Amino acid sequence: MTGLIQIINGPNLNLLGKRQPEIYGFETLEDVEADCAALAADLGLQCAFYQSNYEGALIDCIHQARDKAAGIVINPAAYTHTSVAILDALKTFDGPVIEVHISNVHQREDFRHHSYVSLRADGVIAGCGTEGYQLALRRLATLIAD
Ligand code: DQA
Repeated sequence: MTGLIQIINGPNLNLLGKRQPEIYGFETLEDVEADCAALAADLGLQCAFYQSNYEGALIDCIHQARDKAAGIVINPAAYTHTSVAILDALKTFDGPVIEVHISNVHQREDFRHHSYVSLRADGVIAGCGTEGYQLALRRLATLIAD
């Protein structure tokens, strides 16, 4: 397996930087991708990025990662709290999975406190802003090297 990391973002994250910036900040998803690509190069990894507002498309992306990716970083956004299907898809992936939330979901509404995806994730990063994606990449670099 190569050092390819699949970074997956769920619904509404295409509007990052414009959507509720008081919660999610002003960085856009393109900014996040550029930061991750630069860090991945430093870590000797490559990144593939995917964002969709559709649950099935996110599941297809996870299935495709089975054959090509060494690890997954996923921010399933609102599907975190609802999607058994995304949990099941992640269970078909053998490599390490890090779940990222830009906001501290535990400080927010009760319905954001439960994550189906955490049942599969090897690590969870929440409340570190968009830097969380870079923290996830660093953790995956460690896990893949082990
Ligand atoms: C989020 C938190 C979710 O509860 C929310 O639905 C999102 C983004 C985050 O990154 O903080 O869309 O996953």
